Amino acid sequence: MKNFTDFQSQLPILEVDRLEAAFEIDGEWHNAVDNISFHVKPKQVIGVVGESGCGKSVMSLSLMQLLPKGIGKIRNGEIKFNGRHLEKLNEKEMNKVRGKDIAMIFQEPMTSLNPVFTIGFQLAEALHNHFDISKQDARRKVIHLLDRVGISRPEKVVDEYPHQLSGGMRQRVMIAMAIACEPKLLIADEPTTALDVTVQAQILELLQELQTANDMSIILITHDLGVVAETCHEVIVMYAGEIVEQADVITLFECPKHPYTELLMKSIPRMDQEEEVLASIKGIVPSLKNMPRTGCKFVDRCPKAMEECRTITPQLEESSPGHGVKCLLYESSWEQEGMKAK
Ligand SMILES: Nc1ncnc2c1ncn2[C@@H]1O[C@H](COP(=O)(O)OP(=O)(O)OP(=O)(O)O)[C@@H](O)[C@H]1O
Ligand SMILES: [Mg+2]
Repeated sequence: MKNFTDFQSQLPILEVDRLEAAFEIDGEWHNAVDNISFHVKPKQVIGVVGESGCGKSVMSLSLMQLLPKGIGKIRNGEIKFNGRHLEKLNEKEMNKVRGKDIAMIFQEPMTSLNPVFTIGFQLAEALHNHFDISKQDARRKVIHLLDRVGISRPEKVVDEYPHQLSGGMRQRVMIAMAIACEPKLLIADEPTTALDVTVQAQILELLQELQTANDMSIILITHDLGVVAETCHEVIVMYAGEIVEQADVITLFECPKHPYTELLMKSIPRMDQEEEVLASIKGIVPSLKNMPRTGCKFVDRCPKAMEECRTITPQLEESSPGHGVKCLLYESSWEQEGMKAK
């Protein structure tokens, strides 16, 4: 069960301010993450949702300073972890932060595990990177970690290779690796997408358990709003590299405001419907090169679009305390202007 502590009164551990991350395409830089700001409080689980290509992974790679060198870069903005500016750290300093303070679980576990080394070797390496620990102690700790993430017969699995494990087991190993150094923030990028439904539920349950036991915050990236409803305190809805709506999970589900969020909600399969009638959102997220420069980036797909949406760029404004919406329909100055015009 989610525990709603009073997050309001706590200082954030992560503060992201006006972050822009870009890729170079045909000699020009294009923002894949565009001016996003948000906070993560201790023990808070933040869901990041949005369709494929809306910038969820680029955002998380930016936080970890793992954008592909030469092709991608942080162009602007600040990332502060416990008050420390991560965007100013060099590679050596950032290496100390990765794994120890902030850890990440990637979408496809097979690409993050090295096929030529045993599970035990790879987990021990994660420990040796940050702690002065003997080989024997590391092995003991690895077995304990495997046990903690629900792997049966950990003393056997420790000497096995990644290909000997099922997808669900490999994802558990990735989680063990991520929590090995007890990070205060875990970024989980679609941690269950590659898994079947039953295993998905088990992994999410495990993440929640570890979150409570380790007092860890989680940024959970997913395109599954059902998962968000189950696991998150706060939700960020991304579209075309921007945050278009942000609210606590109850407000977002009870009172979604942005037309994009409304459509995402309609695309959640419902248990009470006999046939799965999934409303899909017509069209696709614009590619980086075809991103509209002014106006709302969702305009071409929005059922509520007005002429002005093409020319006036909406701002993320609070429509009620803690509920931000980036849509002209909810913009106070625009509403007033509209009233004046009438
Ligand atoms: N290495 C890269 N070079 C150029 N463009 C990239 C690169 N990686 C991502 N992009 C572009 O950045 C945008 C955001 O991509 P991103 O991978 O963050 O989407 P996502 O929300 O994680 O999608 P998914 O749900 O499919 O994982 C997309 O337009 C994508 O094509
Ligand atoms: Mg992604």
